[in-house]
Amino acid sequence: MTTINLKKAEAFIKEAKKNVHPRYRLGYHIMAPANWINDPNGLVQYKGEYHVFFQHHPYDENWGPMHWGHVKSKDLIHWEHCPIALAPGDACDQDGCFSGSAVVDGEDLVLIYTGHHIIDKEKDTFFQNQNIAISQDGLHFNKYEQNPVIATPPHGSTQHFRDPKVWKHNDHWYMIAGHQTDEGIGEVILFKSQNLRDWAYHGVLEQSDDKHGYMWECPDFFELDGRYVLMFSPQGMEPSGDLYQNLFQTGYFVGQYDYESNSFEHGDFTELDHGHDFYAVQTFKDDRGRRIAIGWMDMWESNMPSKEDGWAGALTLPRELHVSKEEKILMTPVEELKQLRKKEHTLLEDKLVEEPLSFDITNDLLEIEVIFDLETSTARHFGLKVQCGQTEETVISYDVNESKLSLDRSKSGKGVSGVRRVKLPEKNRLYLRIYLDRSSIEVFANEGIATMTSRIYPVERNHDISLFQSGGKVKVIGLKVWELEDIWKN
Ligand code: FRU
Repeated sequence: MTTINLKKAEAFIKEAKKNVHPRYRLGYHIMAPANWINDPNGLVQYKGEYHVFFQHHPYDENWGPMHWGHVKSKDLIHWEHCPIALAPGDACDQDGCFSGSAVVDGEDLVLIYTGHHIIDKEKDTFFQNQNIAISQDGLHFNKYEQNPVIATPPHGSTQHFRDPKVWKHNDHWYMIAGHQTDEGIGEVILFKSQNLRDWAYHGVLEQSDDKHGYMWECPDFFELDGRYVLMFSPQGMEPSGDLYQNLFQTGYFVGQYDYESNSFEHGDFTELDHGHDFYAVQTFKDDRGRRIAIGWMDMWESNMPSKEDGWAGALTLPRELHVSKEEKILMTPVEELKQLRKKEHTLLEDKLVEEPLSFDITNDLLEIEVIFDLETSTARHFGLKVQCGQTEETVISYDVNESKLSLDRSKSGKGVSGVRRVKLPEKNRLYLRIYLDRSSIEVFANEGIATMTSRIYPVERNHDISLFQSGGKVKVIGLKVWELEDIWKN
């Protein structure tokens, strides 16, 4: 079954690719050759290469029966498309291969994923189980004959039981999965195994209280900088001030974990990214010991204008994670991204700016680095406008009184709108690194204490940048732009 379904999907994608319109295709982000993708899955380094899988519907630009798409890379920057790795339709995954993870077990690359089974489409009833698929070449995967490896959730449960994340600790494999109790509470549950095939239930790792939603999707749990981090994507959190503005959230707890007693003591929930489009993040540890995160760079039920071009969905840039003294996650672009830099333009150096300045830019793939000196600035509000056309602009600005960074895409172009804001810890400088691709923007503030990730769909195709300020002067220590390589055009 699987081989036929994989071949059919591959053949379909090859044709669909011919009809994809290039205008919003990203230049240095992971996307499928055509049609729909959502969550990153199975991030792993295997035999020296980085592998990223993703939720993929090869037959349509909308979500549908989930396959696992696949890309790999030697350097975390230049990706190549590989054949679709998993197609649904077997007894263990009749209606979808949902999200999951990957581990290296000796010579094997093992994918652990959720099988989705529709009971009644009209009533939206289904059940979900956990499965594995094994490869010796990192490209072709055989589903384990005795799948599922976990057939049902362990205790009082609704139908939601998915997104297994597996890791090894000492001599055991551990798996966490997102789960909803029969009381409608989101939680992360834990299993233990010696061989990836036989799993025993090991208890609840953490559960929602009344503020943290009705279902926790795509959990991840790891040790970092002497702490333990539980990351997950809760559904059902209410907006609160500037926080939790998107339909669903992604965030984390930082604390201490004891494997013996399965007790996780942690601080408050913190939202991970503050843009419009960031969800279902997953991480992995690479051979250099770095903890690297990649998220889905979209949001459920958002408007995706690229659908009319024959594709939808992309993944964020890879970001290196650390935990700060204050137990917050710091997220910065992996250093390899500097390899994308081609032409460098120094636009400003050590300048007190008292009126708007504009710069002609002709490239649509850009990295912008800007450092503002807050001590010598008198302006109350300042920032950058990017992708500036006659009527269009995307505005990244800083409000000094509130120490808030904002990303405004209300005039960004087609089909999207809205402002997002995040309060930054006060500092003497504001350091921003901004990655602009043909339909995305990622802003990294200071040492990665805040990030803002959003999709934008400019129509005017004028790529100018302008710097503005109000209520005084702003001191720019430096403003630099790099034109970036298009990795898909080689
Ligand atoms: C998260 C999610 C997962 C699920 C997958 C289905 O975005 O809903 O919980 O496995 O997407 O595509």
